[in-house]
Amino acid sequence: MTTHALHKTDKVVFRNEHPDLSHSREEILAGLQSTQKTVNPKWFYDEYGSQLFDQITRLPEYYPTRTEVAILTENREQISARCGRGCLFIEPGSGSSEKVRILLDTLQPSAYVPMDISAEFLQSAALELGGEYPWLDIYAVCADFNQGWSFLDDLPAGKRVVFYPGSTIGNLEPKLAAEFLIRVRDMMGENGGALVGVDTHKSSDRLNAAYNDSQGVTAEFNLNVLRRLNQVMDAEFEEDSFHHHAFYNTEARRIEMHLVSEREQSVRCNGGTVEFALGETLHTESSYKYTPQSFAALVEAAGLKLAQSWMDADALFSVHYLERA
Ligand code: SAH
Ligand code: AVI
Repeated sequence: MTTHALHKTDKVVFRNEHPDLSHSREEILAGLQSTQKTVNPKWFYDEYGSQLFDQITRLPEYYPTRTEVAILTENREQISARCGRGCLFIEPGSGSSEKVRILLDTLQPSAYVPMDISAEFLQSAALELGGEYPWLDIYAVCADFNQGWSFLDDLPAGKRVVFYPGSTIGNLEPKLAAEFLIRVRDMMGENGGALVGVDTHKSSDRLNAAYNDSQGVTAEFNLNVLRRLNQVMDAEFEEDSFHHHAFYNTEARRIEMHLVSEREQSVRCNGGTVEFALGETLHTESSYKYTPQSFAALVEAAGLKLAQSWMDADALFSVHYLERA
């Protein structure tokens, strides 16, 4: 792990805890060598991937962002009261830090800690936020949120609340999601909390449309993984040899995103080759959808409880405040 400040203003501090690349290469290679080839969805997000995700959030078919924004906006007083004014507000996978803006004035956190794998994007998002909220202390950390959070030890004491919107929790396999919540529980101490946005199980038509937009932005986002693999793995994936495929797996209650090989091919990668049969897929992302009951079960397995929940009238999206059980 490298630890060094990237850039600092009076109120905005950066810290780089990005995992080292040799470890990442081993992890990627193991995924490419498994029977169902797979890659961790964190590899979508370099600066271009983060920009594409931002475009996705504004697509007509992609209902989660605007629905969650409406829930947070309509309930901001109640939500802020739950979190507690003056808490330390930590957002793993903060992206553009758009949603925190809804809560900042009512919440008045002691500091905001955006944490993201996408270093340059995080840095500019934090600086922009700092420009808009000159009173706010921002500690931006580039890190993998599935690894240790020991850097939080250096931050101000007081109540800690983890803000995990966007249904990013849905991108974790349920076992990893439970482990993530256990890490949150340990980190937040006795009186802390977590505010988590969760996409709901619903009609396949609605879900399939959200991940197969008519402008092809989600397809471009998916294909960006190949560019990332080419950089990180010194690989030679050709974008036009693969196509985007996303579908709702109703049994597993998850969207699956894949890249489908358009031909039999042998791709140079990390000094060796990776073989693809015609139609074989690289599984790039799962996006699990939960009912209030199935999410409550996940939370309880991690030693937490749903203290309060909010939903839109059409039950498209949910936001939950979690506390220790
Ligand atoms: N919280 C924002 C963005 C969600 S998109 C919102 O609700 O709109 C998911 C974000 O998580 C992206 O910015 C991505 O870069 C980040 N991310 C994905 N996997 C990550 C990981 N393993 N560690 C840290 N950040 C990650
Ligand atoms: C970040 N995450 C919750 C998004 C999702 O919906 O699973 C990522 C995404 N993938 C395709 N579209 C959006």
